Amino acid sequence: MAALLFCSFCVLLLLPNSAVGITRLYTFNITYQNITRLCNTRSVVTVNGKFPGPRLVAREGDRVIVEVVNHVSYNITIHWHGIRQLTSGWADGPAYVTQCPIQNGQSYNYNFTITGQRGTLLWHAHISWLRSSVYGAIIILPKRNESYPFQKPYEEIPILFGEWFNVDPEAIIAQALQTGAGPNVSDAYTINGLPGPLYNCSSKDTFKLKVKPGKTYLLRLINAALNDELFFSIANHTLTVVEADAIYVKPFDTDTLLITPGQTTNVLLKTKPAFPNAIFFMSARPYFTGIGNFDNSTTAAILEYKHPSNSSTKVPLFKPTLPPFNATGFVANFTRKFRSLANAKFPANVPQTVDRNFLFTVGLGTNPCPANNTCQGPTNTTKFAASINNVSFELPSVALLQSYFFGMSNGVFTVDFPQNPPVPFNYTGTPPNNTMVSNGTKALILRFNTSVQLVLQGTSILGAESHPLHLHGYNFFVVGQGFGNYDPNKDPAKFNLVDPIERKTVGVPAGGWIAIRFLADNPGVWFMHCHLDVHTSWGLRMAWVVLDGPQPNQKLQPPPSDLPSC
Ligand code: C2O
Repeated sequence: MAALLFCSFCVLLLLPNSAVGITRLYTFNITYQNITRLCNTRSVVTVNGKFPGPRLVAREGDRVIVEVVNHVSYNITIHWHGIRQLTSGWADGPAYVTQCPIQNGQSYNYNFTITGQRGTLLWHAHISWLRSSVYGAIIILPKRNESYPFQKPYEEIPILFGEWFNVDPEAIIAQALQTGAGPNVSDAYTINGLPGPLYNCSSKDTFKLKVKPGKTYLLRLINAALNDELFFSIANHTLTVVEADAIYVKPFDTDTLLITPGQTTNVLLKTKPAFPNAIFFMSARPYFTGIGNFDNSTTAAILEYKHPSNSSTKVPLFKPTLPPFNATGFVANFTRKFRSLANAKFPANVPQTVDRNFLFTVGLGTNPCPANNTCQGPTNTTKFAASINNVSFELPSVALLQSYFFGMSNGVFTVDFPQNPPVPFNYTGTPPNNTMVSNGTKALILRFNTSVQLVLQGTSILGAESHPLHLHGYNFFVVGQGFGNYDPNKDPAKFNLVDPIERKTVGVPAGGWIAIRFLADNPGVWFMHCHLDVHTSWGLRMAWVVLDGPQPNQKLQPPPSDLPSC
């Protein structure tokens, strides 16, 4: 390891002005750790005993090698959420998609290079619900000698949102999948692992951000919550959004943000010019429009100015006002504010023409209750399910990428994923009588460099709900969005093909649609799914198979020798 690091530095020394990156080595030990929150102690799966897990810091252009060693009884994988993984799909991490999980006592080296990206991302476990405690920040700094396209911050602070469960989340989802019921919700939201003072037995577990007056801070906001989109606001302070999902945006000001699971947002916080004689809550609570239960609690951290005289006089506390839980209008306006920087240095390479056009419905549905059982789904004869184009995706028992690469996909998956809804209906109107999904492991094949337009259409089956869709292996451009049903005759005329936001995770509006475009320039098998883990578990997921291109650097490389087997 030392030799590898040393060697990379050599290269750097030989080429002082080049953009050559270094290699950064990390070891992630997956271990149990007793953690107490809300006066409740639980053995939690962690990385290196930390909750949230350690930060991964690198520069654009660096190679990152993370040795993940599994010391717990659960199988594990780690996903580097938002990292492009150009031709390195073996390091992407979703279990049974790009790899078999790492079993107890085994290890795997995730090896990838960060190309053309800078900003904030996150890493998280990508198997079952283990990411509830196995997550952390990825911080990609600009290349050496390059700066941010905004004011240099005085300090940078990661703010990770998460969820705390008093009960083991693995038990919660296992039971829900058994009974067909909606799973139990979390007991608290957390900021940097701490629920904050608004929960019982929790005031000592409060994140405090100490700032100086008259400075600019960069907050790296990361939503690592399992099942909840979150509003976030700091009392009496306006935030400037400068980056999202590791892509710079045209800066805009806002008092309140929405951030979905899997999304990251960098904001500048300008502190008051003088000591304000007050402390301020930084609060988050959910956005939810569905019909099931949700954790409707509020997490708070404290923004505190360092007092000039170090006195500890009691000062007033200000709390922000957050939008109502179902503020769909606010959410639509907020997401429309995001625009790519789209300048000469950071262009928006939006595909202007489209080779393949897809319409996918996303939403909930049902599966029948097994014979001679009573279930706790929407009725006692059904279980909750979720689907894309009515296919509820079943994970195979071997990895898709391996079976594809070795030409052994027979019996593992088929390539007949529907390109359009199999039965068209009024997607956002009165739901159809038959809400049953079909179950299968189906993928779609794309030739290398295909320019794809994908319209994701929400449905109102079992409630119109927002679905934060995440595509692995790619950035995509959000060229259009709207409420109701997508109209292929009228809506494309309104698409933004100039400076649409480029993202990796985007909310399909509750009762609406979103249109995205991407260029399939990264060969491999790429997962696409709702980043609400409950919906992923119910089957709201699918996979793209992108074929190799003609050039050597357009081909998926052979798997590393330590790739786990199933
Ligand atoms: Cu952040 Cu497939 O996940």
